[in-house]
Amino acid sequence: MANPSLLILPGDGIGPEVMAQVTRIIDWFGEKRDLAFDVEHDLVGGAAYDKHGTPLHDDTMARALEVDAVLLGAVGGPKYDDLDFSVKPERGLLRLRKEMDLFSNLRPAQCFDALADFSSLKKDIVAGLDIMIVRELTSGVYFGEPRGIFEEGNEHVGINTQRYTESEIERVARSAFELARRRGSKVCSMEKANVMESGILWREVTQRVRDAEYPDIELSHMYADNGAMQLVRAPKQFDVIVTDNLFGDILSDCAAMLTGSLGMLPSASLGAPNADGRPKALYEPVHGSAPDIAGQGKANPIACILSFAMALRYSFDQGDEAARLEKAVEQALADGARTPDLMGPEGGTPITTEEMGDAILKALDASL
Ligand code: NAD
Ligand code: IPM
Ligand code: MN
Repeated sequence: MANPSLLILPGDGIGPEVMAQVTRIIDWFGEKRDLAFDVEHDLVGGAAYDKHGTPLHDDTMARALEVDAVLLGAVGGPKYDDLDFSVKPERGLLRLRKEMDLFSNLRPAQCFDALADFSSLKKDIVAGLDIMIVRELTSGVYFGEPRGIFEEGNEHVGINTQRYTESEIERVARSAFELARRRGSKVCSMEKANVMESGILWREVTQRVRDAEYPDIELSHMYADNGAMQLVRAPKQFDVIVTDNLFGDILSDCAAMLTGSLGMLPSASLGAPNADGRPKALYEPVHGSAPDIAGQGKANPIACILSFAMALRYSFDQGDEAARLEKAVEQALADGARTPDLMGPEGGTPITTEEMGDAILKALDASL
């Protein structure tokens, strides 16, 4: 049988640096676990713009639709700030999400024991934290029409439109309820039904789907601003959070800091299953291209490595191997491996991106 195929798009800034460590780990699974992938590399974001004048070449888009999974590093950076909006690096990523129809973005925030002291919050608030944010990813204000900058009278007006159809809400709600069934059976849906019609519909539809199809799941509703506050007040009250595209973007960065660093948070963006039952999927860290530390060997590769663990679990039905990789990350942290973003109260000497890769590979070897 052919090996499963992976398209790797390292992107910009620290993207290629963290992806280099993932590539070593992919090779390890091929050599030591008889789990080989057919890997191809291509460009996205500013790197693609530099070569092709577009942040995502049509050929790359076509391959993304064909392969079994896509792994992406990060896109963007100050070099591209003045580009026309239509060719900005971020447009490449948004096109991938839209054309692959990756409507369900899983952003888990877990606090590893070794890092419980590192969060900006008190240890007992975050220790043992394990929540899953499900962010709708292909609609809402990111894609709604009308949009643009228009002339109105003697000034300009910038317009974006928050728009959700019932079916878009239904499908992301189902994906959150399905996940909750395999976790703590609790979903909290966040919107602003107090001020937005799209929020009223979101609340109605999530409740209807729950009542009709998931009576075993406990569903609560919360205004997203309160949700942000509750995430830092008492994050362990949540199991699965389901929310729209923009609120999900903001709330997941907020959740990242509960784990100690934005460099820890992976994500899986999933679409509907193909004929073979495998969902269309793209895996990427939640963080961006981190221009302030790019090229200095300071980036934490764990978010990208844990994104590959999510690929093992959600695309390749390799839950045991995903757990092996997650445990290796945990072990490396327990052994004291710390990139500069993980310098907690105890201080110490930070290691480089590559040395973090070494530490995780060592823990993987020890797992055999
Ligand atoms: P960012 O996530 O790149 O960085 C925010 C802060 O977190 C920075 O101080 C950075 O050094 C730190 N950080 C991020 N990842 C880290 C890691 N792995 N290890 C250690 N520290 C890390 O967000 P930003 O600065 O607002 O955005 C920079 C660029 O990245 C922008 O062009 C933005 O559009 C883009 N971006 C891309 C993605 C993506 O590709 N998915 C996500 C977010 C932002
Ligand atoms: C993310 C990023 C993206 C978003 C940008 C880079 C398009 O912030 O993946 O969280 O806003 O969705
Ligand atoms: Mn974001």
